[in-house]
Amino acid sequence: MFELQTINLKRAAVDTLVVPVCEDREIHSDSSVKSLIDAAKATATFNGKKGEQASLFQPTGTAITRAYFFGLGKAETLSGESFRALAGKAVKACINAGLTAMTVATPSAGQVNLDLRTLFQTLMEGAYLGNHIFDRYKQEKETTPLTSVVLTASAAQKKSCTGLIDSVSTVCGASLVTREWVTMPSNDKRPEAFARMIQEAAAAADLKVRIRDERWLEKQQFGAMLAVAQGSSAKPRLVTVEYAPKTASKTVVLVGKGVTFDSGGLNLKPSGSIETMKMDMSGAAAVAGTLLAVARLQPAVKVVGVMPLVENMPSGTAIRPGDIIRSFTGKTIEIGNTDAEGRLILIDAIAWAIRQYQPETLVDLATLTGACVVALGEKIAGVFSNDQALAAAIVASGEKTHERCWQLPLPEDYKELLKNDFADMNNVGPSRWGGAITAALFLSEFVGGTRWAHIDIAGPAWAKKASDYCGAGGTGFGVRLLCDWIGKI
Ligand code: BES
Ligand code: MN
Ligand code: ZN
Repeated sequence: MFELQTINLKRAAVDTLVVPVCEDREIHSDSSVKSLIDAAKATATFNGKKGEQASLFQPTGTAITRAYFFGLGKAETLSGESFRALAGKAVKACINAGLTAMTVATPSAGQVNLDLRTLFQTLMEGAYLGNHIFDRYKQEKETTPLTSVVLTASAAQKKSCTGLIDSVSTVCGASLVTREWVTMPSNDKRPEAFARMIQEAAAAADLKVRIRDERWLEKQQFGAMLAVAQGSSAKPRLVTVEYAPKTASKTVVLVGKGVTFDSGGLNLKPSGSIETMKMDMSGAAAVAGTLLAVARLQPAVKVVGVMPLVENMPSGTAIRPGDIIRSFTGKTIEIGNTDAEGRLILIDAIAWAIRQYQPETLVDLATLTGACVVALGEKIAGVFSNDQALAAAIVASGEKTHERCWQLPLPEDYKELLKNDFADMNNVGPSRWGGAITAALFLSEFVGGTRWAHIDIAGPAWAKKASDYCGAGGTGFGVRLLCDWIGKI
């Protein structure tokens, strides 16, 4: 879809040119772009202020059919995210105009305070991600994605960006697969069906995949995971996906929460909370998506994805509050609330994965708590870790990719809140205060000495409304973050 092209904008026939503009400073070095901007500003309704847009048709002295101008505001406020947003907006404007291609007049990297690769990378990411339309359930497709995006680049710039088109397409393509899975309705992705979808995609990427069924889980005594699954007519599955390069010395395990629908169980969720719970498998979707990308990025570390898949339903066979279950490790747990199911499937998957793979580092991704959304809002994930350098590396990758993460604490004394009169632990604390922390502390009891981080993505995994480069629905949060982090190991 992408191409870097050296274009003489004075003469070349360009169908649609997208021009980023700042209000206070010239950010282009191409003189024909500068004259186009002068012409746009001469209309007096466009000044390059943030959010402003303008268009010119067949600007004089050029062979350009239409030029779209997008205001970026003050130059000093620019970051990589400004260019993702700009490219996403531009793609949407072109799609809505019924176009199939666009050419972006790339500004001069030096004049927007970015290094060259970051500028090209963020423009491509915004365009790739913004070009996604979830319409597989629509009989009539209302809009069609673009088929071509060209970024203007000098010969030297092209050279210094080698490999970039491939890596952006790989990572963003995987993000879109994740979005599709998350947005897909629960009736089409019950554990067995979702397991097959992951298997198919992973096998096509030459990854090793295994699906374990309920009999295997029973034999292995995944007591906590089976307890969650027992209320549903859909049987649970454990999916593992492995990327194992011959040269790797380190192993990273990624565990993703895969609740294909979270009704809450007998502690049924009320209207207002239950409607979007098809997204409760976003952790598993992001882990699977990350492995799809990793298979092509080929890092020098072994990466294993572990995805426990269940449906959390109320029924005559469902677990009850007060039930005591025995988890994979043997620890017993009293069910204080059947809606705290994510942590139950995760502890069995985590404990098993540590025994099976002895990873250097284990990271889990989960839409775990509403409390995390209360704390950090809908766009920022919570990170918990027993290793400060690991937490810092994840937060740094979050800044770089704009899949933002904020570290929250794991206070030792709060573990008291999970104590229980009858079993080794309770699955919830006695009140809702600090709910994201008590959930993370619950998980921490099952990681032993393994270097571990937990990322609570309950907020950012799902978007109620479309934004610059993401439609409403699943956001694919975690794929770009984890790919960046794995690339740094
Ligand atoms: N899947 C939910 C968490 C969630 C909430 C995800 C909002 C996305 C948006 C999780 O299983 C859950 O129900 N958590 C409970 C825990 C409580 C019972 C201790 C919650 O957050 O209310
Ligand atoms: Mn729940
Ligand atoms: Zn849940």
